[in-house]
Amino acid sequence: MKSIVILISGRGSNMESLLGAAATGALPVTVAAVISNRPDAKGLETAAAHGISTRVVDHRQFSSREAFDEVLAGVIDSFSPDLVVLAGFMRILSDGFVTHYEGRLINIHPSLLPSFPGLHTHLRALEEGVRVHGCTVHFVTTALDHGPIVVQAAVPVLDGDDEASLAARVLVQEHTIYPLAVRWFAEGRLRLIDGRVEFDAPQASEGALISPLARISP
Ligand code: GAR
Repeated sequence: MKSIVILISGRGSNMESLLGAAATGALPVTVAAVISNRPDAKGLETAAAHGISTRVVDHRQFSSREAFDEVLAGVIDSFSPDLVVLAGFMRILSDGFVTHYEGRLINIHPSLLPSFPGLHTHLRALEEGVRVHGCTVHFVTTALDHGPIVVQAAVPVLDGDDEASLAARVLVQEHTIYPLAVRWFAEGRLRLIDGRVEFDAPQASEGALISPLARISP
């Protein structure tokens, strides 16, 4: 069975969806550890309640990004994971760190990348007036919130949505697609080859999410 290490910075709901799927056997991985850069991350308690080893590498104790990343990588590598899973880990990673984990480092981002990298994605989506929004799982490269895309889920933006309602609708999909992507990796069906995603997974059937719902005939 493949093993993963999950990196968090806060609430940890994506982490919890992975732990839940692993606990039921729906996700065939061993979660070797959960690591946070913040000692007060709520997700640490959730992970401990699931009986998972937790570690804190507090970024405020380091004078440079590289020094923090080096210690973080040492802690991760002490668990020898097959895959490192960023789940709301809100740190920009140095090129050296990303290169070290090439092909075995994935992230989830709350937008349909390449739209809306960075912060406040839901607010920016509302301000732009997009009618379809969503989330993306991607391999991590040295570009912020970018990299070869594994899977995306789209949701409609509804009249009357605010940042919280839209975030909640997207989060439900995050909790679906992240366990899926990790499962594909664990089953050996997902690889990064020469910077491109290769995997055997069922293709979506034809059809489209049209938002707002459009009908030609009355
Ligand atoms: C999630 O929405 C995740 O997509 C986002 O942070 C949230 C963490 O929530 N990640 C990013 O914005 C990365 N750029 P969680 O701690 O409940 O999983």
